[in-house]
Amino acid sequence: MQHNLATREDDISWKTAVGGEDQEILAGLMADPMYLSSKFFYDEVGSKLFEEITRLDEYYVSRTEKSILEANAGEIMSGADHASVVELGSGDCSKISILLSALGQETLKTVTYVPFDVSMSAIEDSGCRLREKFGSVEISAVVADFMDHIHLVSQHEKRVFCFFGSTIGNQDRGHAVRFLENLGKLMRSGERLLLGLDMVKDRNILEKAYNDTEGITARFNKNILEVTNHTIGTDFDTEEFEHRAFFHEEKQRIEMHLVARKDVTITSPFFDGTLGIQKGDSIHTENSHKFTTDHIDEMASLSGLSVRNAYADNNDWFTLVDYVK
Ligand code: SAH
Ligand code: TRP
Repeated sequence: MQHNLATREDDISWKTAVGGEDQEILAGLMADPMYLSSKFFYDEVGSKLFEEITRLDEYYVSRTEKSILEANAGEIMSGADHASVVELGSGDCSKISILLSALGQETLKTVTYVPFDVSMSAIEDSGCRLREKFGSVEISAVVADFMDHIHLVSQHEKRVFCFFGSTIGNQDRGHAVRFLENLGKLMRSGERLLLGLDMVKDRNILEKAYNDTEGITARFNKNILEVTNHTIGTDFDTEEFEHRAFFHEEKQRIEMHLVARKDVTITSPFFDGTLGIQKGDSIHTENSHKFTTDHIDEMASLSGLSVRNAYADNNDWFTLVDYVK
């Protein structure tokens, strides 16, 4: 969809911490097995493709979490006046819209919305849309990696942290633990974390969500090679790789890979020589861990937070946990 809103970045205050992406990508391609961090999916093209994914029939995750937010927005937002609502991995901001809609005009004026994302284009686009809908909300954006730069969030107001979309499940265990510990230390008494978790379920439902018939997820996955080409000057041809996504039962996660369809040789000014990839070799591009109720308590103890409430849909496919310090 084309939207012709004027860009009004001048209305948004920004903090940014970017750099080192080239070395991160390089390290992943030199590793055995090869991997690329999932944050590199989200350039302008990738962020748009992800929005398309959220509208797919097979991708129940967004729809389900939104239904939970809609059913409980009033309760969730009670006490959020004068708060900074910090959304980690904010993307298209459609979820925060649901929560902000539950606030009256007067309360909305007291709230600052802080989208925190690696994708500046996503924040710009969604900032525009939020402005249209909620003229009076102050927006103060952070463009940075939430794993390394969470301290960039202002300390001045009380904060409600939102981490939707089961994005925490895209971190490996070590990173997720470190993230929860850091966030827990940074939070002050009474502050909250709204955490969206996609739950373990039937493998067919899970696998369909990451293998849609229109091939949008495949395009999204392959776009990481375009980002790699732009960032470190490689010459990956996306046609030479195949999208593969499957549920790893033991690790309770969807794994996404790009598998070489033939032997390929990749060059880059960052390489000493060339990088040879053989037919059938894979680049691991993403994990999406699925959760059980045990994880909800485990995350509370890792972060030093208490569970105030946990909301689910009728099928128990998704849980939104309201933690408080
Ligand atoms: N919250 C939205 C978007 C989820 S997609 C939703 O639920 O629909 C994940 C979002 O997190 C993307 O917008 C991506 O750009 C961002 N992201 C991924 N890894 C990140 C990181 N390490 N630091 C900051 N943002 C990240
Ligand atoms: N947090 C989302 C998830 O794990 C991210 C996501 C959805 C995703 N679909 C994807 C990432 C497809 C890569 C490919 O469900």
